[in-house]
Amino acid sequence: MLTKSQFWDYNSYITKLFSLKKMKAKLEALKKEFNDEAEKIKSLVDLESLENKYLSRKSGVLTLLMKEMKSVPKEEMPAVGKLANEVKQFLTNKLETIKSNLGNKNNSDTAFDPTLPGTEQPVGHLHMVSQAIREISGIFEDIGFQRERYPEVEWDYYGFEALNMPAGHPARDEWETFFIDREPINKKLGQRILTPHTSSGQVREMEKGELPIRMTNISKTYRRQIDASHSPMFHQFEGLVIDKDINISHLKGTVEYFVKRFFGEDREIRLRPHHFQFTEPSFEVDISCGVCHGKGCKLCKEGWLELAGAGMVHPNVLKAGGIDPKVYSGFAFGWGVERCYMMKSGLNIDDIRLLYKNDLRVINQF
Ligand code: PHE
Repeated sequence: MLTKSQFWDYNSYITKLFSLKKMKAKLEALKKEFNDEAEKIKSLVDLESLENKYLSRKSGVLTLLMKEMKSVPKEEMPAVGKLANEVKQFLTNKLETIKSNLGNKNNSDTAFDPTLPGTEQPVGHLHMVSQAIREISGIFEDIGFQRERYPEVEWDYYGFEALNMPAGHPARDEWETFFIDREPINKKLGQRILTPHTSSGQVREMEKGELPIRMTNISKTYRRQIDASHSPMFHQFEGLVIDKDINISHLKGTVEYFVKRFFGEDREIRLRPHHFQFTEPSFEVDISCGVCHGKGCKLCKEGWLELAGAGMVHPNVLKAGGIDPKVYSGFAFGWGVERCYMMKSGLNIDDIRLLYKNDLRVINQF
């Protein structure tokens, strides 16, 4: 028989033993369970939720278990505490190892790999009209034409008067002009206008007094017209050649050379008589249709597409430029850049204004 005090001693011994064993068993079980779960981890997100499950300050499994330590008798506290700390250390180490392994596999948000390519920046490209201008000026440079630049805000004199269209001449009506000034502000030069055609560069070039002339003038031009085939701002390219003994065959050869380079070897040209005040004779240039090659089809109706104007420089224009028409002669042509570009690409654009709407879905196709 145990004495009362012996009984109490024994009882407390058993209790101690029991709670110590229970804590140890619980800690071991927790460690094993954690280990099993840790093996399955594949991402940082999994890792974080595992860490929370076991170590979160409020509700972590280990945290809660450590709170139970209160039931362990004082004398055993250090031993249980040591064991609990070892388990905690084990968990923390394991989490660290998994984290760095994930990082090495480049799965980590925080891992920085300097060998990975950077974010690609979008790169733009030239607008199709700029592309066409470059191509056109290059084609003429190859046969000795020099590109010149003349004002877009021009004098009435260079736009009309010097081109054999005096004030009030009905031929002016064709160039639906924007006027800057209501009345002439200069006796000789008249009003300022937005140049309605690149022909305004002709007399300016002649006034330089350097002969012979072989120039292109490519620029913005303006007319008070807006519909599916007209934009109030568009582009023209002008060619001007002045030398001794220049005749229609030079004009025809040059136009043909351009058409074959720009549109293709298989295209033909034809000159149709026309009227311009500043050329004599004057022509309208047609090119054979790219689809039916001159036979006639739905697109062209009769086999030819109308391109633009050309002609031999009028003697009055040469005189205005200070050149003697008895000694020199020349030819000129002036065509729309957009029109040529649209014809070349076979672009079935039914509205020229689309070129200037800045809709990237259109522009990025070219
Ligand atoms: N300037 C004329 C136009 O705009 C075209 C042209 C240029 C015609 C040169 C003949 C000679 O229509």
